[in-house]
Amino acid sequence: MTTKKSPLALVTGAARGIGAAIAVQLARNGMDIAIFDIIEADEVSESIQTAGQNALAVVGDVTDGEDRTRVIDAIQKQFGRLDVLVNNAGVAPNVRSDILEASEQSYDRVMNINLKGPYFLTQAVAAWMIRQRERRPDDWMCIVNISSCSAYAASPSRGEYCLSKAAISMATKLYAARLAEYGIGVYEIRPGIIATDMTAAVKDKYDKLIAEGLTPIRRWGLPEDVAAAAAACARGELKFSTGEVINVDGGFHLRTL
Ligand SMILES: NC(=O)c1ccc[n+]([C@@H]2O[C@H](COP(=O)([O-])OP(=O)(O)OC[C@H]3O[C@@H](n4cnc5c(N)ncnc54)[C@H](O)[C@@H]3O)[C@@H](O)[C@H]2O)c1
Repeated sequence: MTTKKSPLALVTGAARGIGAAIAVQLARNGMDIAIFDIIEADEVSESIQTAGQNALAVVGDVTDGEDRTRVIDAIQKQFGRLDVLVNNAGVAPNVRSDILEASEQSYDRVMNINLKGPYFLTQAVAAWMIRQRERRPDDWMCIVNISSCSAYAASPSRGEYCLSKAAISMATKLYAARLAEYGIGVYEIRPGIIATDMTAAVKDKYDKLIAEGLTPIRRWGLPEDVAAAAAACARGELKFSTGEVINVDGGFHLRTL
């Protein structure tokens, strides 16, 4: 077990995209990082070490209960603490299909990864955080869910994605209400249109929409924009807020007349 006393942040889906930016940003803020992703995360691990922090990368699937336990056990063994969980891993449907035709198979895949995995990972992590509270009454602990503007914006060509994000929004409220008495903050970060592999396939469409004014701030969001918000939560800068939604969307959620 390392003797260093840095807080430990577990970030799911941190091998690339938004999760990678969050992992590196939290490391720059003095946290050790555990990555839980279905793909290897060598490059991100190196960036974390360059920032002077320890990295542990576990390859596993958030939908698999045994993998979730394995990650938590590995963190327990190597660091003996867990202060921050960022539920970031998520997928879009493999194929965008009209809600009148979309398959049950795609529904199950998207709901399992985007909702069931983080919901039960949070359950296991929260139980450990509560146990840690007894010996570390004053340390900041929090859980951050990366949802999406799809939690409220209806896209009938990817209904299962919208449902999963609306549901993780409620999961945020549920855990915020349950964990407040233990001083564990729970937050939802709602990204808008962010430049990652996930949106690469629809780049031209969004280039045009953004140029036409879809978002009051007329540019693509960057993974670093989301990471800055996650870092504010993880550092404990919002201690009297919980269950809060932080939109990182260039103002997309605003209604204008
Ligand atoms: N990019 C956007 O515009 C955007 C907008 C709103 C919300 N989001 C959300 O942000 C999060 C990150 O998205 P991104 O754009 O960085 O996507 P991405 O595809 O670039 O990265 C997702 C990461 O999650 C991992 N992952 C996928 N399934 C997994 C599983 N079953 N178990 C463990 N890891 C798994 C992938 O391997 C990958 O590293 C997602 O929850 C996504 O829904 C993205």
